[in-house]
Amino acid sequence: MIGADVSVAAELLQSGKLVAIPTETVYGLAANAFNSQAVLNIFKAKNRPSFDPLIVHIASFDWVKRLATVFPPKAQLLAETFWPGSLTIILPKTDLVPDVVTSGLPLVGLRMPNHSTTLELLSQLDFPLAAPSANPFGYVSPTTASHVADQLGDKMDYILDGGACKIGVESTIVSFEDPEKPVILRFGGISVEQIEAVVGTVSISISNNSNPAAPGQLDKHYATKKIIELVNSPELLWDVDQHQHYTIGYGEGHFSFNLSPTSNLDEIASNLFVALRLADQASQPKIVVSLVTESGIGRAINDRLRRAAAR
Ligand code: TXA
Ligand code: MG
Repeated sequence: MIGADVSVAAELLQSGKLVAIPTETVYGLAANAFNSQAVLNIFKAKNRPSFDPLIVHIASFDWVKRLATVFPPKAQLLAETFWPGSLTIILPKTDLVPDVVTSGLPLVGLRMPNHSTTLELLSQLDFPLAAPSANPFGYVSPTTASHVADQLGDKMDYILDGGACKIGVESTIVSFEDPEKPVILRFGGISVEQIEAVVGTVSISISNNSNPAAPGQLDKHYATKKIIELVNSPELLWDVDQHQHYTIGYGEGHFSFNLSPTSNLDEIASNLFVALRLADQASQPKIVVSLVTESGIGRAINDRLRRAAAR
């Protein structure tokens, strides 16, 4: 059932049920992070492999002390600058965090989402929420309540509708496994440039199948059922046969879907997953998408596109 009643969502979560929650990045499939059975049910609902850890969502800084054994100064600085927002910080976990949440890792990912409905929900709960994106494992992430309903509607008790997600790509993940040396594990809503402006140069370790440091960052992910071909700029889509190909571009020109007529990267990010879903449902057998400039949130956009296109 879809609704906007925060107290209904709170009651269901208290009784160990699954509830989809809105965030500014994508919708999450949430459960009480302290209830191992409920968390296991998230993995089942998504058909998610047990080695892929979940992000724990909080609404106040007090929770960091209870969930993490240390909060290094640089991590604190990033949290104070970007929370609530599209940043997940990986820290050594306390015993309060069940192993099932972190897939047995000694580290936990924490995030304070920037969405008033979910912040209100969290403030009514005396536990944090473990939540991955609310899509079947490997498919495009949901950015509206109806995306969630379409694919996983029967797997949860309630979908808390908070409108369309404003950012549209998942959070940036920064690991503090070494407290002195932050490492970016996933490009996302907060850009590398924004992070480096706060804590100086950070290293980047965007992983794939062969790098177990950030489990779950598989080469093929965020994928449509149809084959996706990528081109380097939208002009290369102008002459593509739109009966055979669903074209996704931006700027001038006629595309099956124009992500942003003004080529604005934030607008492109917020429309990206909507476009990929429509492309998958369209009559054309193939999808062609233009990559964007590799800066700011553009890195996250290109990362999602390359993984979606990986065979
Ligand atoms: O924006 C987001 O982050 C969304 C919303 C719902 O908050 N969530 C999201 O979750 O994208 P998910 O499960 O689709 O991606 C979480 C990823 C995992 O695949 C893994 O790569 C990384 O976060 N992660 C989580 N906990 C980790 C840990 N302890 N160590 C390393 N990586 C971790
Ligand atoms: Mg996901």
